[in-house]
Amino acid sequence: MCGIVGYTGPRGPVNIVLGGLSRLEYRGYDSAGIALLNSSLHVVKTAGKVADLVEKIKQKNYSDIHAALGHTRWATHGEPNDANAHPHFSNSGRFAIVHNGIIENYEPLKQMLIQRGYSFKSDTDTEVLINLIEDVFLNEKVSLPKAVQLALCQVVGAYAIGVLDKETPGQLVAAKLGSPLAIGIGEDEFFIASDASPFIEYTNRTIYLEDYELAVVHPKEGLEIKKVKDFSSVVPYIEELKLNLESIEKGGYEHFMLKEIFEQPQAIIDTFRGRMLVDDNLIKLSGIDDHLATFLDAKRIIFLACGTSWHAALVAEYIFEELLRIPVEVEYASEFRYRNPVINSGDIVVAISQSGETADTLAAIKLAKALGAFVYGVCNVVGSSIARESDTGSYTHAGPEIGVASTKAFTTQITILSLMAARLAQAKETITKEDFQQFLLALEQIPSQVNEALEKSEEIKSIAQAYHKATNCLYLGRGCNFPVALEGALKLKEISYIHAEGYPAAEMKHGPIALIDEQMPVVVIATRKGHYEKVVSNIQEIKSRKGKIIAVVTAGDEAVAALADHVIEIPETSEMLTPLLSTIPLQLLSYYIAVLRGCNVDQPRNLAKSVTVE
Ligand code: G6P
Repeated sequence: MCGIVGYTGPRGPVNIVLGGLSRLEYRGYDSAGIALLNSSLHVVKTAGKVADLVEKIKQKNYSDIHAALGHTRWATHGEPNDANAHPHFSNSGRFAIVHNGIIENYEPLKQMLIQRGYSFKSDTDTEVLINLIEDVFLNEKVSLPKAVQLALCQVVGAYAIGVLDKETPGQLVAAKLGSPLAIGIGEDEFFIASDASPFIEYTNRTIYLEDYELAVVHPKEGLEIKKVKDFSSVVPYIEELKLNLESIEKGGYEHFMLKEIFEQPQAIIDTFRGRMLVDDNLIKLSGIDDHLATFLDAKRIIFLACGTSWHAALVAEYIFEELLRIPVEVEYASEFRYRNPVINSGDIVVAISQSGETADTLAAIKLAKALGAFVYGVCNVVGSSIARESDTGSYTHAGPEIGVASTKAFTTQITILSLMAARLAQAKETITKEDFQQFLLALEQIPSQVNEALEKSEEIKSIAQAYHKATNCLYLGRGCNFPVALEGALKLKEISYIHAEGYPAAEMKHGPIALIDEQMPVVVIATRKGHYEKVVSNIQEIKSRKGKIIAVVTAGDEAVAALADHVIEIPETSEMLTPLLSTIPLQLLSYYIAVLRGCNVDQPRNLAKSVTVE
């Protein structure tokens, strides 16, 4: 959470940093601020969004700015107000810092600094860190980079930081542990940012800092990377960015979320391109092929994830167990790491994460590795922390997902997980050659079938019109559509703030049925393959209690259509792949309801896309 952007160089630092901050707003958007360096060091900050900061800056008239450092915040320590917004000054006003992460031992450090005469204007852990840096700087009489290094050695927690010094024009100091930090390298200019999106139109040369690394950049003096532990030099590894500007812009859609929903057919193709060779009856996944023996010997697979990625894991549980006949467990990463998990030799952990930065998932795989598990990462963001921490893995190649509510990440995760399961089933011979071929053919059809599902957009908009004032909503599904029900409910609550719950349809009679009356919309996934008759009975139970039924059905269905208030048809596919289609109308329904309620779809309140705190 929190996004940081810094720039030092000749071309308008203020606009570069403000533009970068709006691209990083998905990481947090409850306050924003910027530090500007000319002959003096200025800080402008405000509660609210980057747009509010832009307005505030317009009223100022700074000239000759040669470096700037910005921040968009998702509050951890201290409520989101002007004082707690970053950047924070050190007591003397010489240094300014932006920070993404949490300093866990900030309280004892703060008490120590108070005893040494420091005072604090905010409730943040970050202000403690910049004063610790200043204290080291003054007492040890060292350079700022060295003071940052020494201070960070006293810190417990996670950080990506940027620091500016009033007395060292052009210099930016950055460091990372746990939270991501990329450095963009241009001609006589440098960028630092939480991801590469703020600088992709200026340079494609980037360095992703590793944990415990510190960087010093200066337009004239260049770049130096040091180890936080001992200040020894590190040879930088410069990568060429594959990201393009178009992929992070709205492209004519009103919201990123809608764009990303409509990108799903292409995103799914991008996920299986080069991996699924239907004519050759082959799946090639280097992460699996290179470790086939490990997978074939596995006694159990444990999926670890959070949020929507956890729902993708639940879908995968059905597919893996069905195709591989191997026990699968699905765990919230946060729960896994805070008990004493039993990991046996032969256990494989599959970590699923769109961002590849979710703190709980990252910590959980570190624990799993320490306990001897082999870790396979399924991430979207290339070079992300989880991808790097895993023993091997596969990228989803969904392209940047900017809307906070996850959509194409979910369907591409299911796509890659389906490929993994099918590849392993083939190797284990738990699937016949014919069934394997059928599976590939069905998966190959999915992108065009997703397109068909998207064509129902206008119908779904009118259903949204009828229910956008609802205060509660139930989502029901069975089998591999049960996780889709959970995901549908999550989407609705995230972006429209309507209370929604997902349940296995058969569980309804054990409690939720008590809630049903004529005010209650119930979304039921009732596709033909997969417990159809049972779900039809559940629909009858809802109907007899006057609930309003919105049913997602297989094209041509008549039985459910006769009972439901609304039906949304999706094309037919294999039962295991149905979630790739049944989730589409639920995404659209949530989207249109949220728009009709006037909600900020791409930046729902209190949420952030990348949760880098525990
Ligand atoms: C946040 C996001 C969700 C996401 C979850 C896990 O809560 O708002 O959309 O599903 O984190 O994120 P990950 O990047 O690990 O998939």
